[in-house]
Amino acid sequence: SKTSILCGDLLDFTGNPFHQGEEAVRFQPEGALVIEQGKIIARGPKAEILANYGAQAEVTEFTDKLIVPGFIDTHIHLPQTQMIASYGEQLLTWLTEYAFPEEMKFADRDHAVKVSEFFLNELLKNGTTTALVFGTVHPQSVDAFFQVAQAKGLRMIAGKVMMDRNCPEELQDTPEQGYLESKQLIEKWHGVDRLAYAVTPRFAPTSSPEQLQACKQLLEENPSVYMQTHTSENLDECEWVKSLFPDAEDYLAVYENAGLLRKKSVLAHGIHMSQREIDCCKEHDTAIAHCPTSNLFIGSGLFDLKRMQENHIEVAMGTDVGGGSSFSLLQTFNEAYKVQQLQGKKLTAFEGLYLTTLGGARALDLEGVIGQLEIGCEADCVVLDPKATPLLDFRLQEVSELHEKLFALMMLGDDRCIEQTYSLGKVVYQRDVK
Ligand code: GUN
Ligand code: FE
Repeated sequence: SKTSILCGDLLDFTGNPFHQGEEAVRFQPEGALVIEQGKIIARGPKAEILANYGAQAEVTEFTDKLIVPGFIDTHIHLPQTQMIASYGEQLLTWLTEYAFPEEMKFADRDHAVKVSEFFLNELLKNGTTTALVFGTVHPQSVDAFFQVAQAKGLRMIAGKVMMDRNCPEELQDTPEQGYLESKQLIEKWHGVDRLAYAVTPRFAPTSSPEQLQACKQLLEENPSVYMQTHTSENLDECEWVKSLFPDAEDYLAVYENAGLLRKKSVLAHGIHMSQREIDCCKEHDTAIAHCPTSNLFIGSGLFDLKRMQENHIEVAMGTDVGGGSSFSLLQTFNEAYKVQQLQGKKLTAFEGLYLTTLGGARALDLEGVIGQLEIGCEADCVVLDPKATPLLDFRLQEVSELHEKLFALMMLGDDRCIEQTYSLGKVVYQRDVK
């Protein structure tokens, strides 16, 4: 197949800037990526790359644009797309008032297809090329999602929600039914093209101990699948878990005792965690999805990101739509920054972009596959226009320093700054010409 070359200012990470500072940042102004069969096969200074590969390749030149790895959203709910920005409630009432009624609509497969189309287009419009996605309890929600994602050639991970108590009966499965439906989806979709399955108990309050055992069995029988759930998001939720599982040492022990914590397990939120729970994440190589727009929007609390990094926990970013209030991981950084400010801490743009790219890949055990502009990686990348809006253009008029430019872009930017999104080297989103 044909060779293509993308030219622009390349920015990605070779390590974790929370630990290595700017040494982890790889910036190549006027660089170029060579792409063949959807993968990056070479990178370097534009002049050198064009001299070596230019003759037989299709060359696309972006001037004064940043080329970064495709964004990775490690926590988002497909069925909550159409109820994003629902007014006035905190987690437990928000679930019963807004989320559960919306999820009931996914009994209809056609509805799931329609929402999946919109959802995936919205992700690509925001530069997100991989996401770890909650469906609903209905297996057809995830079957429809995978079908649409496959047609677009995307790398996506999703799972059918398992919940057998403390929610509307219409949304309940049973331990056996949840097991069988998940197993069938794994057999049909896990490892097909770039798709992967995640066993998805919603959270401790909505799964009986028997259902958590069924989740464990699924993980044991399918070692390469993911596990995703929620933990320690909201104080009323934490109290509820204590009363439902009186024998568990803490919230995380519910999942730990059930055998659900391992590499490729991703816990959303983790705001109110004890040192024991943090140590437990570390011990089991379990990652945390930090979802600042959600934590602020539904009033859950302030995530201590620096403490997690000090404890070497793998943290990545999640939008948590529709508890979260934006599909944009740039806007998600904006709020992550403010969450740290409220705790007297600083978050650099490099740290933020790391969490959105290589940090996401590491949390999903996909380093070397996505998350970097590295030889051998899939060519999922985003072309960012730092001067996409009049305000950004004005703000950046006399700015040349990389961090200042990136920080302003991430604070003020959103989908307007996404000029193009590439998946496997192909354009899957292109912004309207200005
Ligand atoms: N905890 C359990 N279910 C949910 C959900 O749908 N959204 C959020 N933010 N937290 C949850
Ligand atoms: Fe969530």
